[in-house]
Amino acid sequence: MILVTGGAGYIGSHTCIELDNEGLDFVVFDNLCNSSKESLKRVSQIIGKDVKFIEGDIRNETDLQKIFDLYDIDSVIHFAGLKAVGESIEKPLAYYDNNVIGTIKLCEVMAQNNCKKIVFSSSATVYGDPHTTPITEDFPLSTTNPYGRTKLFIEDILKDLFTSDHEWKVILLRYFNPIGAHKSGLIGEDPNGIPNNLMPYISQTAVGKLEQLSVFGDDYDTHDGTGVRDYIHVVDLAEGHVKAIEKIDSLENVLTVNLGTGKGYSVLDIVKAFEKVSEKKIPYKITARRNGDIAKCFADPSYAKSVLGWEAKRSIDEMCEDSWRWQSKNPNGYKNN
Ligand code: NAD
Ligand code: WQD
Repeated sequence: MILVTGGAGYIGSHTCIELDNEGLDFVVFDNLCNSSKESLKRVSQIIGKDVKFIEGDIRNETDLQKIFDLYDIDSVIHFAGLKAVGESIEKPLAYYDNNVIGTIKLCEVMAQNNCKKIVFSSSATVYGDPHTTPITEDFPLSTTNPYGRTKLFIEDILKDLFTSDHEWKVILLRYFNPIGAHKSGLIGEDPNGIPNNLMPYISQTAVGKLEQLSVFGDDYDTHDGTGVRDYIHVVDLAEGHVKAIEKIDSLENVLTVNLGTGKGYSVLDIVKAFEKVSEKKIPYKITARRNGDIAKCFADPSYAKSVLGWEAKRSIDEMCEDSWRWQSKNPNGYKNN
């Protein structure tokens, strides 16, 4: 049985479906601080069976131990964490507490129960402002905000754990920019309040909830001056986790892998692709650069292909189509449905 921490969230809920598709059994553990039970109800609807769920906090050892008492947990996919860059600058302690302390508690309880396999949600944010693109896993690491530092600390903590005890099997997955949603339109990204990220901002503008997109800067050194990112379909990302879990038993060292497509699209490329598939006009204005943003970030995904046998398959049009289906069917996300 696989324990999926943060499994009610955006990437976790999509991963549950792909685990089920592969016949892998799982239980979700989530404190619902950034999600709701509705996402898991929808997952149940899609997979045609109940989802095992325990509500609890990874910082609470009693909550965690309950799962190990109830289920025979073989490995953990660890999504649980806070993820808003801006909020992390305002509330650094909340981020260090939730993400870093939470992961330490999780690993302690895992070790006490002799479960030593973990797949961790890291981020391309650990590459800071890369000196060039595409980005390979051996690029220098740095970051400019507390959220990113939690990812760097946790990567190091998990590496130290392996050094101390080679029974640990650790996979660090560095995600690029996940967007899109499940084809059914039943699950998707449901940010609280005004979205920070590009795709939910565009899709909420398309559905009429927001007036106008602000494009943060058009004077970057990119093909049209706007920021370039490696957008990856969340279902491709979810499939990457299945490959990681299938690989984990054979590891002899900590495995660190980029999950990206290798393609970079600008903000305006995304606006155009979204307009094409949704047949909606996205009003936008060019504004100042956002603090901390970089010009260009995209992966070299070749290591994922060679080591996990995984590569992203879904196109930017499919990502936009699926984001749009989710947003138009659920204008208020999981609320009031
Ligand atoms: P999300 O907020 O939708 O999901 C995270 C889930 O973790 C939520 O359901 C939340 O309720 C739960 N959670 C948070 N703290 C918890 C705690 N202390 N105990 C139990 N549950 C807790 O976010 P997501 O986009 O699905 O991201 C999943 C993971 O991937 C996060 O660790 C995030 O940092 C990482 N990541 C996300 C992105 C992205 O752009 N979405 C990119 C790179 C990495
Ligand atoms: C994408 C592009 C913006 C909003 C963040 C985190 C990163 C990772 C993924 C977790 C940029 C531009 C955005 C808007 C805009 N998360 N933009 N108007 O910043 O690449 O990455 O999410 O690990 O750590 O930093 O993603 O979607 O916010 O921005 O012009 O209203 O869209 O400037 O070029 P980002 P994003």
